[in-house]
This record gives sequence, structure tokens and C-alpha cells, in this order.
Amino acid sequence: MAGFIRYACLAANGHNTQPWLFSIKGNTIDIVPDVERRTPVVDPDDHHLYVSLGCALENLLLAIESRGLATTVNLLDQGAGGLSVVLEDNNAAIDPLDQALFAAIPFRQSTRSVYSGAAVSTERLATLGRASRINGVSLSLLTDRSRINLVRDLVIEGNNRQMDDPAFVRELLHWLRFSPSHAMAAGDGLYSATTGNPSLPEWLGPLAFRLAFTKSGEADKYARQMDSSAGVAVLAAEQADPAGWISVGRSCQRFCLAATALGLKTAFVNQPLEVAELRPALAETAGLRGLRPDVVLRFGYADVLPFSPRRPVADVIRT
Ligand SMILES: Cc1cc2nc3c(=O)[nH]c(=O)nc-3n(C[C@H](O)[C@H](O)[C@H](O)COP(=O)(O)O)c2cc1C
Repeated sequence: MAGFIRYACLAANGHNTQPWLFSIKGNTIDIVPDVERRTPVVDPDDHHLYVSLGCALENLLLAIESRGLATTVNLLDQGAGGLSVVLEDNNAAIDPLDQALFAAIPFRQSTRSVYSGAAVSTERLATLGRASRINGVSLSLLTDRSRINLVRDLVIEGNNRQMDDPAFVRELLHWLRFSPSHAMAAGDGLYSATTGNPSLPEWLGPLAFRLAFTKSGEADKYARQMDSSAGVAVLAAEQADPAGWISVGRSCQRFCLAATALGLKTAFVNQPLEVAELRPALAETAGLRGLRPDVVLRFGYADVLPFSPRRPVADVIRT
């Protein structure tokens, strides 16, 4: 069972807080929110926390399915309390698409670099759409440059507003890891090398961050990242509640795994949905009017970057 949980922990999750706890009872694995790991400034309603649980759930289900076992998922307190996965023997062969997604789990990463600019074929776009299909979740794929530019401008606007908020910057700093030794010891957080930035001694990091973290520098960085991406995916749940956000997490994780299997890279650019006032403009641009956008991902071709750390599996299993 701990082997399945190891795969779950490799899922994408906000600020790499890994806001999950697992427990094993007989043939059941529960995933519940770790409220100590909330990020109340960037995520005041725990939206990202539940999306992260959904990402972990999807990895867990793929790992279990790869062993020929069937699963039933039950939401706890309509998702607010997490969820329960019951494992059943059925010796069914794994679906070939799911097999490819499972194989991609250790190779998926959030790649926050400038991409190659190469386009993604229509056939591959169709595979991304098919792989990420989950009931109750809409996907909008933008490959038209004028629409990507509109999203780019919203990302930069959202980022500017977040940088103007001292509480946002304080919370972000709390989760930044500047040296490899701190990143490895903590096993969580945003390690600078995973964003293409240099590793620094831990004492120097915050100082260098405050000097280098300027609005114009960030705007320029995001413009280059968005301009070099082949496309943008926006996901939105029908239900704006924990159950809907868990479903979005599942779909998002499947999208990222399918991209990985196709040799593509992905990175989240969620600023326009983290700043609530920008959500309607983002929904309009993505053709999702009336829905709350839940995830914005850019995708394209790029080289691999260093991988994010994870905590030991034993630390996330409640006994
Ligand atoms: C709900 C959610 C929101 C996220 N928001 C952002 C974001 O706005 N910007 C960003 O660079 N990464 C974002 N991420 C990516 C996480 O930082 C990343 O998954 C985590 O650091 C672990 O790294 P990995 O994806 O390479 O395994 C988000 C991930 C999730 C699941």
C-alpha cells in the first residue's frame, strides 16, 4: 500500500506543500487534507488544496490500476473531508492510455522555463483532450496566438497584483528553498533550481530574492515563457466546491501525465485565477463564461529541469 502512496505523492500540488495525509485500513486508503499545510493568502478558500488532493488521487488510482486492481472512490463529507479509495481484486488489464499515464508519473514535472516555440500537432492535442476527460470538468485548449497573448497579459497583471501584496510575498518566501541542502532536508517547498534559478546559500536567498524579484523582471520572464509555449489549457469544474476541485485535480494530473508521455512539458500559470477579480476575463478568453477557471497550464517542448523534492512517504502516512 505504501508503494501506491509513493506514486500519489509525486503529484503536482500548490507551492509543493504536499497538503495531504494518507491512512491505510484493510483494503482502503484515505486521503485527507493536511490543514497545517494550507496557504491561506494565495488560496483562502482551500481551492488549490483540494485540486492538489485530486492530483494525488489520480496518481494513486493509476498506480492501483496498474496492478490489475479495481477501485471505488468515496468522498468524505462531500469532498471537504477528503476521500476514501477501496481496492478490489478484479485482475482486469489496464487500459493502454492509463498504462502510458502511469509510466509517465516519475517523469512529470512543472517545467518553469522558456520553451522551444514549436507547435503541437492536432493529433497530440486530441490525445491531451481525451486523456484529461473527467466528468464535470471542462477543458479549453488555446493554441491561437492572439488568445494566448490575452492569457499572457492576464498572467502578468495577476503577477503584478500579487507582488504588490506583502502577505503574498511573505507566504511565498516561507515556501521557497534556496539551497539544495535545505530543499532536501525539508522535502517540500519550491526549490530555486526547479525554476531554472541558481541555488544559493540559505542565508543569502531571501536577500537576493528581494533584490531580483522586480515587477518588470517578472513581467519580462512570463512574457518570454508564454510566447514560447505552444498552447494554454484552462480547466474549470461545473461545481465550485471541494468535490468539483478534486475532479479538476484529477483531470489536471491526467493532462500533465499525457503531455509527459508525449514528450511535452507543462507549467502552471495560475495568477489570473488566484486574483479573483481577473477570473471573469480569463473565463471569457477561454470560452468558459459563467464558470470559475480552476487551473491554467501552458505547454510545449523544452528540456528537463531538476525535479522537486518530496517528503518521505512515512511522514505522510497517519497511523
Ligand atoms: C493547484 C495548483 C496550483 C499551482 N499553482 C502554481 C502557480 O501558480 N505557479 C507555478 O509556478 N506552479 C504552480 N503549481 C505547481 C506546483 O508548484 C508544483 O506542482 C509543485 O511545486 C511540485 O513540483 P512538480 O509539479 O514539479 O512535481 C501549482 C500546482 C497545483 C496543483
